[in-house]
Amino acid sequence: MTGFRSSLIRVFALWLFLPGATAAITPQHAAIASAHPLVNAAGYEVLEAGGNAFDAAVAVSAALAVVEPNASGLGGGGFWLLHRAEDGFEVMVDGRERAPLAASANMFLDSAGEPVPGLSRATALASGIPGEPAAFVHISREYGRLPLARSLAPAIRLARQGFPMYPRLQGGLKFKQQQLASNHAGSVFLINGQVPELGQVIRNPELADALELLARHGREGFYAGEQAKKLVDGIRELGGIWTLQDLADYQVVERPPIKSRYGDVTITGAPPPSAGGVAVANALNILGPYKLPELDSVTRTHVMVEALRRAFRDRGQYLGDPDFVAVPVPLLTHPFYADGQRAGIRLDKATPSADLPGLSPWQAKGTDTTHFSILDADGNRVSATMSLNFWFGNGIMIPDTGVVLNNEMDDFSVKPGVPDGFQLVGYDANAIAPGKRMLSSMTPTWAESDKGLVILGTPGGSRIISMVLQGVLAWAEGANASQIASLPRFHHQYLPDLISYEESAFSEAEIQALEAMGHTLKPVGRRYGNMEVITWDYASGEVQAASDSRGDGEGRVY
Ligand code: GLY
Repeated sequence: MTGFRSSLIRVFALWLFLPGATAAITPQHAAIASAHPLVNAAGYEVLEAGGNAFDAAVAVSAALAVVEPNASGLGGGGFWLLHRAEDGFEVMVDGRERAPLAASANMFLDSAGEPVPGLSRATALASGIPGEPAAFVHISREYGRLPLARSLAPAIRLARQGFPMYPRLQGGLKFKQQQLASNHAGSVFLINGQVPELGQVIRNPELADALELLARHGREGFYAGEQAKKLVDGIRELGGIWTLQDLADYQVVERPPIKSRYGDVTITGAPPPSAGGVAVANALNILGPYKLPELDSVTRTHVMVEALRRAFRDRGQYLGDPDFVAVPVPLLTHPFYADGQRAGIRLDKATPSADLPGLSPWQAKGTDTTHFSILDADGNRVSATMSLNFWFGNGIMIPDTGVVLNNEMDDFSVKPGVPDGFQLVGYDANAIAPGKRMLSSMTPTWAESDKGLVILGTPGGSRIISMVLQGVLAWAEGANASQIASLPRFHHQYLPDLISYEESAFSEAEIQALEAMGHTLKPVGRRYGNMEVITWDYASGEVQAASDSRGDGEGRVY
């Protein structure tokens, strides 16, 4: 072979493997990782019918609404991060809930100006205007190949025919049993007020009807007509403030993803109103120069904690709905900004969060959200995280709508400086305003280099951000999909000033060494998260999919 020809081949081969040039190579295999095998089957059915990853994303999201009603659904919202292989186009479809138009900054405070316990979580006032139905219609119409009705068909069937009770859902029902039993939700999810046994079939024909309305009428099937009237009348009867105008006005927003670099890895994440993309980019910018693989485990944990502490501090200060507040994203995600933050980090000593502005108390709470990752055989990708907020949202179901309502209003900063249900402290940027989207920690992400791609995300409230950070770092250092999904986890979020951790994350010696540096550590007391991971190795072509060993999900390559 001539030198010229072999150089040409080398240049071509290099081009094939450059990030952004993935349109030129295809994975050959599709993969789906989600919280339940029946959900994966719904996605695969749609791929088999000629759909692409975006059609499958609608099928998977809708099936999750049926099979994992504690975590996401038509009454909630989410972020869908999309990559189109044919032209490399990338976008985040923001289907986050919005505050109702009658919402006000002080709506969850009493006459003394203090938050009323439970008002932003357990009542009809806690629900933002749902975005998930609008996102289905938008993703299907703009990016799918199949009619919306085809993509919704597996979920409609699942809701009508039912599915067997499984451990994670049973746990969620036990957690929220009292609240669910107090309203229409109890008649759908409980049997004579009791949590069903494992294996008992759960049907939700009202949700099947709601999905059919969407399939037949598009967004009008949820945001207008009879369904809208039932939702508004039902929530107002319970003290809520939704209006028909709120539903009619709801629109998804397409937003450019956040891009950052860590060594030779490009990370693509969720922009505001997600805090996740900015926080992960900022933490990786702080961490880059430390050369983590060369550090001992204690120093590595220490610098990761210090990076998270600083990223979460800025979350509380600056982040909110970018349609309402000026969020300094270019500054917060710039490596020069991270250089300044890194300058304050000592390698031998924790920085007390009190040395950065603000303080708050600590209390533990449950959380629920869901994530799925999809790669189709053409290389289209979806990383999506959806939520009702806490288990079953506010636990309220409006009769004859099939819809479990979210309690995302609690993700606003109900009062500046007062922590939300995830103990996150926010300020004016995330104050309540009519029509505003509440800040989120949902962090659908992918990362790629000339070696390959990882698509990942997880539920877990504020801990989503540290889980995704750990996952991206593990992939950059060579971990495979199931290793990433099963990593022992730790977290720091600036306030409260402590490292919370799964028991398996640290040895006794590591705990003592971190405490000697001034860190406070507190075990979470359980394993947390439910990560869904897909990896694609460009050189070998191997695609892997894995679901978190903590959950009941499945990662499958087709
Ligand atoms: N509902 C949890 C979050 O969006 O962060």
